[in-house]
Amino acid sequence: CDGGGDGAVVATERWDGLLLGPSLATLDTDSGYGLVEDGALAWKDGLLVYVGPRSGLPGDASSLADEVIEAEGLVTPGLVDCHTHLVFAGDRAGEFELRLQGASYEEIARSGGGILSSVRAVREAGEDELLAQSLPRARALIADGATTLEIKSGYGLDLDNERKMLRVARRIGVTLGIGVRTTFLGAHALPAEYRDDADGYIDAAIGWLQALHGEGLVDAVDAFCERIGFSSAQTRRMFEAARALGLPVKLHADQLSDGGGAALAAEFHGLSADHIEHTNEAGVRAMADAGTVAVLLPGAFHVLRETVLPPLDLLRAHGVPMAVATDCNPGTSPLLSLQQAMQLACTHFKLTPEEALRGTTINAARALGLQDRGVLRTGLRADFAHWHVRQPAALCYWLGGQLLHASHTGGRRLV
Ligand code: NIG
Ligand code: FE
Repeated sequence: CDGGGDGAVVATERWDGLLLGPSLATLDTDSGYGLVEDGALAWKDGLLVYVGPRSGLPGDASSLADEVIEAEGLVTPGLVDCHTHLVFAGDRAGEFELRLQGASYEEIARSGGGILSSVRAVREAGEDELLAQSLPRARALIADGATTLEIKSGYGLDLDNERKMLRVARRIGVTLGIGVRTTFLGAHALPAEYRDDADGYIDAAIGWLQALHGEGLVDAVDAFCERIGFSSAQTRRMFEAARALGLPVKLHADQLSDGGGAALAAEFHGLSADHIEHTNEAGVRAMADAGTVAVLLPGAFHVLRETVLPPLDLLRAHGVPMAVATDCNPGTSPLLSLQQAMQLACTHFKLTPEEALRGTTINAARALGLQDRGVLRTGLRADFAHWHVRQPAALCYWLGGQLLHASHTGGRRLV
């Protein structure tokens, strides 16, 4: 036991649920898993009311809860996928084949494919159709342990279609009963109708952001700052608009080249800078100073067969918190499991399993600005994932295999 959990408890009222017996990886410690053997979790009104060893409970604990579950295995915080583009229509398997024949992601994008081909598909789909196509992807992420999802717009690129995507994202949360955080990614690619007028496009997209924020559809703002995306100056204008609305920012930064994206995100006290394969030390230092999380996306790295690694040693040296996400999207990362994202993060980036698990829990929650989840601790949300495996490292070891036994969100059974 390396110290997680609260120890003794005095029960003054009935609990909604009590889980007895599994190991707990609470992550409620500065380092280590915060492991508790023969653990117990109790919850009431959606919040954890006991986290600790079974031996810390009163002898009659089982009679205090409406539902008592006795089980083995491992319980972790519910996983948080802090970077997805899972609302889209169709797929891009044809581009995958083209890339296998030698075309690059950038070449495909410059010839009107890539993100713009998903834009065409999203514009053609009605809202219900888009929801129907996107729900199975959210369900797949949940089936592998996710209890909170971030979902970006960015395949609409006009007001009505960005609204449609964000509405679908909200409907996924309601339909599946999970937490969804929406991110406006209007500055994802330049649609054909604004060819040669990226500045004019940013002006328009800022207007859409203001309207959609007014409709309650936006929790954060993102941009693709890249030579095939938008310049630093254009990204900065989008971020200034976000700041004026009181919205936090995040950024697709330095994925294909070093464009100073991480430093720009940090300058705006961004929640996160994501991808960051090409970020330099000044960018890492700026992230550390600003408390900006590094979101690592090993699925995109894997699928694009990248060779330049994110600056992992610098991130560690400067104490930048690292998150891991699926980046679930039809182009660079058709990845539907955070458990597999952890596996890829360990294999490609040599994250330790502990870093990978922190990356999909506490640090992922932080990348979304959420302080009420990502750790098993009394008073936080009763979001937890219950796995068949006993060892935390096993979560990062298997390449698939349905390791999840059950999950709860807000104290309610999800899987
Ligand atoms: O995170 N790089 C920009 N955005 C996505 C890819 C989107 C797409 O190709 O559809 C990413 O990799
Ligand atoms: Fe992305």
